[in-house]
Amino acid sequence: MSNHIQTLAVDIGGSGIKAMVLDEGGNPLTERDRLNTPNPAKPEPIIDTILQLSTGKEFDRVSVGFPGVVKEGVIYTAANLDPDWLHFDLAGTLAERLEKPVRVINDADMQGLGAIAGQGVELMITLGTGLGSALFVNGKLVPNLEMGHQEFRKGETYEQQLGRAALDAAGKKKWNERLLRAIAAWERLFNYDTLYIGGGNTKFVTVELLPNVKVVPNISGLLGGIALWRE
Ligand code: BGC
Repeated sequence: MSNHIQTLAVDIGGSGIKAMVLDEGGNPLTERDRLNTPNPAKPEPIIDTILQLSTGKEFDRVSVGFPGVVKEGVIYTAANLDPDWLHFDLAGTLAERLEKPVRVINDADMQGLGAIAGQGVELMITLGTGLGSALFVNGKLVPNLEMGHQEFRKGETYEQQLGRAALDAAGKKKWNERLLRAIAAWERLFNYDTLYIGGGNTKFVTVELLPNVKVVPNISGLLGGIALWRE
């Protein structure tokens, strides 16, 4: 590969779709552009939105973070988008439309790849429309960890208690208290060395966190895009 391979990194979210071009070192070459996620959030309008975001950008390959379970470019769950995504070959379809190689992984997995240090047990949790999670052991990803849909408390899942709808319904104070309880539960379960918290709703985190819990900037969701091509 030459030194000049450019990667278009795309993050599909429940409310926005973000895109940015990265150089081979994973450094941004463009601004982080954002368009609203179309409603209904079906495959075709989302692919059109990605095409729109790619227009005018130069790139050789594409990395996509998708908010659901992804295996070999195919979508298996899409809790916050649309059931039409199930069994949709996103990597194949996008590769045809963009005429470039495309790799797709879970959005929290991609964000974790952009955030971790590669040492010990590292857990990434994303707080957005849904609750995303990614687990790494010495930098190696355990793909598609779905913490969000596990039961947390009061018969509700982590996503039901800490997702965007819960934040709006319960208010910031309660949501922050829940977050502390959730972190305590994850610490007992994973005994992680470092926990990273990312996603759009980290701006509402007001509670004090231990030194091994780090809030990461939004941009890491896209920076992880380069890691999909490492091997
Ligand atoms: C999905 C996860 C995703 C998370 C954040 C959850 O509802 O099941 O796969 O990572 O939302 O987008």
